Order: sequence, then C-alpha cells, then structure tokens
Amino acid sequence: MGKITAAITSVGGYVPEHRLTNKELETMIETTDEWIRTRTGIEERRILKGEGLGSSDMGVEAVKEILRKKNISPDEIDCVICATVTPDMVFPATANLIADKAGITNAFSYDISAACSGFLFALTTGATYIESGRFKKVIVVGVDKMSSIIDYSDRTTCIIFGDGAGAVLLEPSEDGDGILDSILRSDGSGAKHLHMKAGGSVKPATVETVLAKEHFVYQEGQAVFKFAVKGMADVSYELLQRNNLTADDVAWLVPHQANLRIIDATANRMDLPKEKVMINIQKYGNTTAGTLPLCLWDWEKQLKKGDNIILASFGGGFTWGATWVKWAYDTN
Ligand code: UT7
Repeated sequence: MGKITAAITSVGGYVPEHRLTNKELETMIETTDEWIRTRTGIEERRILKGEGLGSSDMGVEAVKEILRKKNISPDEIDCVICATVTPDMVFPATANLIADKAGITNAFSYDISAACSGFLFALTTGATYIESGRFKKVIVVGVDKMSSIIDYSDRTTCIIFGDGAGAVLLEPSEDGDGILDSILRSDGSGAKHLHMKAGGSVKPATVETVLAKEHFVYQEGQAVFKFAVKGMADVSYELLQRNNLTADDVAWLVPHQANLRIIDATANRMDLPKEKVMINIQKYGNTTAGTLPLCLWDWEKQLKKGDNIILASFGGGFTWGATWVKWAYDTN
C-alpha cells in the first residue's frame, strides 16, 4: 500500500452578486479608478448585501456546490474547518454554522483564525487528518465578509477588500498527489501593523470604541506591503528549493490576492511567467481567507491531474506560507 496523501478532489465557490466598482468608490471617497488600478490591480469587488447574512451564508454555498458536484451525502463528511476573520459571531464557530446549514451532522467542525493565510493553515491541518488514515472526507472553507469590518470612509482600506468564499474537499489518495509540502509561518510582532483595535477581550465593545471606529480593519499599508513582498516570495522560493522544483516544473502559482504588485514580486522571485499565475484580484479584490480557494474555483476546469501548483499567502498576524499541491483530477 502506498503512502496516504490528502488530495483535493473538488472545489466550490461563492461570490455575492453586488459589485462595488472603482467608479462607485470615486463617489464615496477621494480616490480615482486609475489610482486603484495602478496601485492594486483591483477593478471591482463583491459585497454581500442583505440583513442577517454573514460569512456562513457564503461558505455554505461553496460547500453545497462540492456536495452536489461529488454527489455525496452531507453525512459522509468527517470534518469541516473554516478559515475566517469575519465569523458570523465571536462564538460559536462559523464552521459549525456552515455544517448545520449544509446538513452535515456527522462531523466535527471549527474555525481557524489566520487572516489571509487562514486557508493555507486550514488546508495543511485538514490534510494531516486525512494522512492519519482516521478521516476520509474533510472540507476546508476559506471565507470572509470583509465588508463587515471595513470603514468605507477610509480610502486606504476600503478600496482593497471584498467578500467571497471558496472550499475544497480533501480525500485520501495513494497516487502521490495532493498536499505534498507546506512551509507555514507566524509572527505576532507584526500584529501592530494590521489588526482590529476593539471587540476582543483586551478592549471589549463600548459606545466609545464604536464612535472611535475601532471595530474596523486598521492597516499600515506600506509596512504590510514590505513584509508581504518578502514573506510570500521567500517561502515560495524556499518551497521550490527544498523540493527540487524548478519554474518549469510548476504549472500554476496561486498567490493571495492582496495587491497585484505583491503577486508580481512573488512570481518574479520564482522566475514564473505571468501565464502561470492565477490572478482574479481585478474582479474580487482581497477576500482574505477566500482568495486562494476562489482562484482554484475560477481555474478548476483548466487544471490537469499531475499539475504542480504552489499556493502562497501573506496576511495579518503576521501569517504567511506556501503549499505544494499536486493536482489530483481532470475536470472533464
Ligand atoms: O491581505 C492582507 C495584507 N494586506 C496587504 O498585503 C496590503 C499591502 N499594502 C498595499 O497593498 C498598499 O500599501 C496599499 C494599496 C494599501 C496602499 O498603496 P501604497 O502604494 O502603499 O500607497 P501609500 O499608502 O504609500 O500612499 C501613497 C499616496 C498617499 O498620498 P501622499 O501622502 O503621497 O500624498 C496616500 O494618501 O496615495 C494616497 N492614497 C490614495 N490616493 C488615492 C492612499 N489611498 C488612496 C486612494 N486613492 N484610495
């Protein structure tokens, strides 16, 4: 019997219908379509509208797509891990709410909070359950309703973020494909550059914290940018080196979609041409934990069994990482 690896065997995704365009932002804050495009690569982002809707409502759509496509019953799922920094509530976990809404009743579920690297951390965690041999079907969701924590009068953050969800199904494989290696890192000293000031145990919500707009994303863009360029490129390069992979061996780079300039820097460091880089930042913006699975969702039909794919991320925490996936199936 071969070694058991965790293969991605299906992808689901969901983006809300409402599009917030750069043109519309021009009417809300002092900015221009040209500035946003040239500095970030973003043209529009999706926003979840509707009273009472949260991250779980997007995550469950991605999960249901997987169940539908694979024709599997919800009660076959062993575990649901949800990466998010915009949970429906502080507790219980959004993964529990997603599982409930999807009719998944035989599973354990929990959230991972690692901001933009959340999906990679959750993917690696989910893969170890499969590799252990004890679990056969693990769903990993990356979802964020960033619009719920964005100050739409702050032009340095509101232009970047959007809402969306993606999910993958992990199953055992003996073909040598799936999640093959990961380098994951965190550095809490970076928290000061990107965080939410209030609403946690240090500074619970009060009238004052609300009036001071402390329940929104606080980001020092330039500082984060510098760490992101270095962090994402370094781990991606290191992952190639330690697995003796060259740029020719890599079919796709799937980078976190935070800023087109960060994506370009990572691709350059890996010596990868643009045709091998998944980029959908122009239409979704930065959906935090949603970016990587949404790329896989958009490109699923083009992926071939055996493709070497490098996923890479950098985000709040700081958290960053890179994961080598050998794609396990042809869609058609
Ligand atoms: O995914 C989570 C991790 N986050 C990231 O990876 C984000 C990393 N950071 C970035 O992507 C970029 O730093 C931003 C897109 C946030 C900002 O771009 P930047 O090129 O770093 O701009 P900046 O902050 O250096 O600002 C340059 C100028 C400033 O004006 P002055 O001081 O030079 O007169 C800003 O006030 O651009 C101004 N500015 C804007 N102008 C028009 C800032 N935001 C805007 C705006 N429209 N929306």
